[in-house]
Amino acid sequence: MATHKISDGEVFLRNARGDEFAVYASLVAEADALHHGHVPSLIKPADRAQPAESDFFATLRDPTRMLDVAVLETEAGPVVVGLIQTSLIIRDEGRAHEANTVARVELVVVTETMRRRGIGRMLIARAKQWALANRANSLILDSYAFNIVAARLYQKAGFDLLKKTYTQDLR
Ligand SMILES: CC(C)(COP(=O)(O)OP(=O)(O)OC[C@H]1O[C@@H](n2cnc3c(N)ncnc32)[C@H](O)[C@@H]1OP(=O)(O)O)[C@@H](O)C(=O)NCCC(=O)NCCS
Repeated sequence: MATHKISDGEVFLRNARGDEFAVYASLVAEADALHHGHVPSLIKPADRAQPAESDFFATLRDPTRMLDVAVLETEAGPVVVGLIQTSLIIRDEGRAHEANTVARVELVVVTETMRRRGIGRMLIARAKQWALANRANSLILDSYAFNIVAARLYQKAGFDLLKKTYTQDLR
């Protein structure tokens, strides 16, 4: 595995394939484990939050959703090291809200050993390209307040903070 910033051609992005459910589930589990560690009252441990294979296939078939992977070229062959999942939300005009087409990043994750090499930024740029190609007016995502690493990535990738969610535990 590389231990430096990614150089040209070392990592490429492409659509996820139908035979990649196992690596998809493993990357989702990395993100779930992190979230469960910080907000266990909201997010289940990874072993109780496994994605359904049918949902994975449905996502691959759905033109309003995008699931792309980052692939590292190694001597042993290509290895999937990250993913980004994004969906298109078309909102009609409401009482106060303008009509809007929004692309929402649902999940971005890079496997732990490959972080801080620029892959997260590549994945976000890919979602932005997809959003533009699908005529979205904006690219949005939600992020937990604990996730300072993700917040830095989003700031560097050009996101502004739009709103905050306040909560208090009542149990
Ligand atoms: C968030 C995540 C996707 C970032 O991926 P990454 O490939 O490591 O990100 P990049 O290398 O492209 O980093 C881009 C910028 O983010 C910031 N950043 C990334 N990792 C950081 C860290 N550990 N500490 C501080 N800043 C960090 C830096 O500003 C970095 O730019 P720089 O290296 O030029 O300073 C990755 O940490 C991850 O998978 N985390 C677990 C899952 C998760 O939290 N996903 C987001 C919520 S769903």
